[in-house]
Amino acid sequence: MKNILITGGAGYIGSHTAVALINSGFEPIIIDNFSNSEKCVLKGLKKILGRDVMTYEGDCNDRVLVGKIFSENQISGVIHFAASKAVGESTQIPLAYYANNIGSLLVILEVMQEHGVKNLVFSSSCTVYGQPDELPVLESTPRKEAESPYGNTKKICEDILHDYIKSKASARIISLRYFNPVGAHPSSEIGELPLGVPANLIPFVTQTAVGIREKLTVFGDDYDTKDGTCVRDYIHVLDLADAHVKSLEYLDKQSDCFIDTFNVGTGQGNTVLEVINTFEKVSERKLNYQIGPRRAGDIEKVWANTDKVNTVLGWSAQYNLEDSLRDSWNWQKRLSGIE
Ligand SMILES: NC(=O)c1ccc[n+]([C@@H]2O[C@H](COP(=O)([O-])OP(=O)(O)OC[C@H]3O[C@@H](n4cnc5c(N)ncnc54)[C@H](O)[C@@H]3O)[C@@H](O)[C@H]2O)c1
Repeated sequence: MKNILITGGAGYIGSHTAVALINSGFEPIIIDNFSNSEKCVLKGLKKILGRDVMTYEGDCNDRVLVGKIFSENQISGVIHFAASKAVGESTQIPLAYYANNIGSLLVILEVMQEHGVKNLVFSSSCTVYGQPDELPVLESTPRKEAESPYGNTKKICEDILHDYIKSKASARIISLRYFNPVGAHPSSEIGELPLGVPANLIPFVTQTAVGIREKLTVFGDDYDTKDGTCVRDYIHVLDLADAHVKSLEYLDKQSDCFIDTFNVGTGQGNTVLEVINTFEKVSERKLNYQIGPRRAGDIEKVWANTDKVNTVLGWSAQYNLEDSLRDSWNWQKRLSGIE
């Protein structure tokens, strides 16, 4: 069994990836400082898997701890999820974002190098594209200047990985540019746990539906899209988790000094109003929403060209928007003790 260190493994995408790894014969080992997750995630994982996942509580910037994990376990690859991810917050405390997101990547790379571990999957984001000039957006589409310190950390981390490989490092790296992860595990044992007021659409939608939020505001209906609201590519977190497994399997077949980047999306764009309508259908509830002004920093439309990930990694999304919203809704009901 190959041990895979998943940094930030108690988080939203990491926890679903832990399940996908075990289902594919890998053994995940989690390191998480629980800065943006809760210990109950580990209980949810245990319910799904019928056993514990080995977990180290601590910080990826703690070189001694990360070294200890590599010494105590024969690690064959790393998925580096751990990062601070709130776009708005990153504009308030940019230094903390640069320190955490870039610092943790450097520690992981150095310790991997010391221990001769080659395979790394890095969590990047479609945020690196900004508002692309062509749609759907290709991996080769030039990246734009980042809109936020958070987005900039993803760009810088991608650049660090490229520079590292250029130095003829004995490593094999894939950056996955996630589009908009949504949904939850169908068991409703794990899902997205936003702390405070959600900045993302789907948790805001589900929280409004159960009355935690009074009303959803749609930020702008005068964009150049089919109904005037912003377009995103919503990808089920189970599909996203599976893309990490495919990446690790692919990395195993590569030679040293390998790096590549893949979009992970469905290839479909949906407007905010389409999301609301689909949500109302699957939840059989009317959503209390209003149209408001545009929100600063929002991209008008972005969705993925998925040809490369489909053909090279042999991965494609299996779930559609309805599936994603149904699982998000069931998860919200579970959190709110409904049904
Ligand atoms: N969710 C999205 O919309 C989205 C989109 C694109 C990219 N990403 C990226 O994917 C990754 C995972 O995102 P997520 O949605 O699961 O986020 P999340 O906040 O749910 O998970 C991240 C986890 O990392 C932990 N963490 C943060 N800093 C750490 C550190 N220094 N040491 C140890 N643990 C640390 C947090 O406690 C959390 O459990 C992040 O890198 C994020 O930037 C997320």
